[in-house]
Amino acid sequence: MMTNSMNIKLWFLNLIMLFCMILSMTHGRPINPEFRVKAVNLGGWLVTEGWMKPSLFDAIPNKDFLDGAGLQFKSVTTKKYLCAESGGGTILVANRSSASGWETFRLWRINKETFRFKVFNKQFVGLDGYNVVAVSNSSIDSETFHIVKENDNSTFVRIKASNGYFLQAKTETLVTADISEVRGWKDDDPTVFEMTIAARLQGDFQITNGYGPIKAAQVMKDHWSSFIVEDDFKFIARNGLNAVRIPVGWWIASDPTPPWPYVGGSLHALDNAFSWAKKYGLKIIIDLHAAPGSQNGFQHSSTRDGSQEWGQSDENIQQTVDVISFLTARYTKNPSLYAVELLNEPLSPGVTLETINKYYKAGYDAVRKHSTTTYVVMSNRLGPSEPKELFPLANGLMRSVIDVHYYNIFDDSFENMSAQQNIDFIYNNRSSELNFITTSNGPLTFVGEWVSDWRVKDATKEDFQRFGKAQIEVFGEATFGWSYWAFKNANLHWSLEWMINNGYIKL
Ligand SMILES: *[C@@H]1O[C@H](CO)[C@@H](O)[C@H](O)[C@H]1NC(C)=O
Ligand SMILES: *[C@@H]1O[C@H](CO)[C@@H](O)[C@H](O)[C@H]1NC(C)=O
Ligand SMILES: *[C@@H]1O[C@H](CO)[C@@H](O)[C@H](O)[C@H]1NC(C)=O
Ligand SMILES: *[C@@H]1O[C@H](CO)[C@@H](O)[C@H](O)[C@H]1NC(C)=O
Ligand SMILES: *[C@@H]1O[C@H](CO)[C@@H](O)[C@H](O)[C@H]1NC(C)=O
Repeated sequence: MMTNSMNIKLWFLNLIMLFCMILSMTHGRPINPEFRVKAVNLGGWLVTEGWMKPSLFDAIPNKDFLDGAGLQFKSVTTKKYLCAESGGGTILVANRSSASGWETFRLWRINKETFRFKVFNKQFVGLDGYNVVAVSNSSIDSETFHIVKENDNSTFVRIKASNGYFLQAKTETLVTADISEVRGWKDDDPTVFEMTIAARLQGDFQITNGYGPIKAAQVMKDHWSSFIVEDDFKFIARNGLNAVRIPVGWWIASDPTPPWPYVGGSLHALDNAFSWAKKYGLKIIIDLHAAPGSQNGFQHSSTRDGSQEWGQSDENIQQTVDVISFLTARYTKNPSLYAVELLNEPLSPGVTLETINKYYKAGYDAVRKHSTTTYVVMSNRLGPSEPKELFPLANGLMRSVIDVHYYNIFDDSFENMSAQQNIDFIYNNRSSELNFITTSNGPLTFVGEWVSDWRVKDATKEDFQRFGKAQIEVFGEATFGWSYWAFKNANLHWSLEWMINNGYIKL
């Protein structure tokens, strides 16, 4: 009798302990190994990308000249391009017959009419006496310039230094700033250059610095409160999706007073997303899309001028880990927090495998400090890299996920592919790529970005439907799930809302 009741008690205690363990492991959330994320990216919302909503940039004064714009200047007298000789570190010349890296000057916008010029090797343009040089590594020591256009529509310009002197290509090898009186726009005038805009960036740095602090705060607030609204979450939940991936920028962690030039308010928008997700039963993957210094030099990581400077110091990595820690802590009690993606699309070789491993380990620990259940997503590197290079790290981490992005667009190998070839590529090549990284005991796999668009010209609606269906079928094999890029987009095939409403995609 005694023994029996003790046994029962022990058994009962064990049961309670087991139950508590399961509860503590799951935070009350059931673990369902069959669950797959079917998500859409809320891209272009809390991280700006001009191509997704071009009108956002419309009202910026002098909007051709935003940070990072790549300008090229052809002298009307030498008929050659202005060039930072050797890419920088010495004089400027005007002797290059075609323009690429060394002949491209990246703007730093001081205000709507004042700029600094950064050259290929990252020096800034300045003056050494009358000679124009690119030797200073420090923007502060560099010269500021005005770009004077012949008229609003003209591509002919003069470049005026802050001392009032205009640059001139005296000869192919002598570029000076030593003339203050100019007249007309004749083609024998060495102060006149024909300007080409070879690159433009339209990310968060450009929009906030372009509008300036007061106007930017208003423009961004209006955008954040209108681009994605509660009804979108309702629509997403009712159309066969179960999650959203939300790109955020590192400055969100210092809301409401982020460092210049960023403006506050994106955190409030993310708070809204979490309350709407909870209401409509959607999961959220927070995705750090823009890290301090830029992890890839693209506008969507908020680079100022195309430079990629993330991960180059321990302080920079720690600052990024702190952002992850802040976001996890803030939302860990919300049942919708499903995953934290530590960094979107780090680019090799600028970001080395050693650096990314170090950061991913520290970022993983930061998430785990606040949550035992949140999935931790690690994006594979773009550029030269191996699809399984993160496995040695990820294999040892619970609930880790590898994110891969599959687009049939950016690589030139898709240039001449027909619709059918694209579809075959999904069933054959993508499927084996995904298969290769999807293992039974390794990290889960996530196709965190894809789109039903391609380079095919004159594709029919039915072609698009088959392409979308193929991707949903193949990416459905990813063990964590997939996420379409994006929900709203001025380019209609990149808007899942439009694709669903117009019968291009069925879930
Ligand atoms: C600028 O930086 C480069 C590379 O770090 C260095 O070699 C060069 O000496 C620096 N130039 C000046 C003027 O400090
Ligand atoms: C520039 O182009 C616009 C539109 O074509 C025209 O209305 C305007 O008069 C032009 N301005 C000048 C200075 O030529
Ligand atoms: C341009 O001028 C520089 C300076 O004299 C010279 O070193 C360089 O070789 C020239 N480049 C071309 C393409 O002529
Ligand atoms: C695509 O076709 C064009 C024109 O025939 C050709 O020049 C180009 O090399 C092709 N591109 C690829 C990736 O095959
Ligand atoms: C796709 O896979 C097939 C079969 O393995 C291969 O022959 C082909 O080169 C691949 N295509 C591309 C564009 O990688």
